[in-house]
Amino acid sequence: MTRDLRTEVHQIPLSVLFSSFPELQAVWSPLHQVWKGLCANTSWENRFEESQDTEQKILFAETQDIPDVEKYQRLEQLGQEQREAVELGEGWFLNRGKISYPRLAWLPSFEQRGVFWYPKGGYREWHSNFPYNAHTDRAGWRIYLVDVEEEGKSGFQYLNEEGNCIHCADRKGYANIFWLPHDRFFWHAVFSRTNRFSCGFHPLPHLNATMNEILLAGSSL
Ligand SMILES: [Fe+2]
Repeated sequence: MTRDLRTEVHQIPLSVLFSSFPELQAVWSPLHQVWKGLCANTSWENRFEESQDTEQKILFAETQDIPDVEKYQRLEQLGQEQREAVELGEGWFLNRGKISYPRLAWLPSFEQRGVFWYPKGGYREWHSNFPYNAHTDRAGWRIYLVDVEEEGKSGFQYLNEEGNCIHCADRKGYANIFWLPHDRFFWHAVFSRTNRFSCGFHPLPHLNATMNEILLAGSSL
């Protein structure tokens, strides 16, 4: 029986991905260094903590359980995620639930999807990236390169096809990889109780065969 790689969330060591896609390492390494430096100074972390009002704390808390889908569909369609951005300096912004770096690299075979620092209490609330309107988000693989200060305190949550909430604990130096479908809602969320850094990429469709090979090899380790 062929496994459906597209219904699971995979965790693959960064070293494995970097040997196939050195361009990802070239983007990751300098940003990761910068992030390490930023974490050593707690001033932005403190700004983040102060910015977390009751509404945000609820969004964080709700990442732990099956979401109220109607509420999160409404929220997602409002698309207000970027609205409250406050500039911190050096190209970094305080956003809802996280600190982000929106200066994205241009790569021929990947779309870079975002550079995010989730301090303690950081989150990306439940969402589906479903194409509600003309501004569609493309179906396909998503690769999130991840590093965390402490393991066991953060993770990726998703609803599987049976509607169960599955917790995928982050691992230091591993990527979380999943298929974003467009014929159904793929509800997912992120939370962190430690410093968590992630860099997201969408490999363009001509890389799908390579992605399958990497995921099949990775799952038999
Ligand atoms: Fe997403």
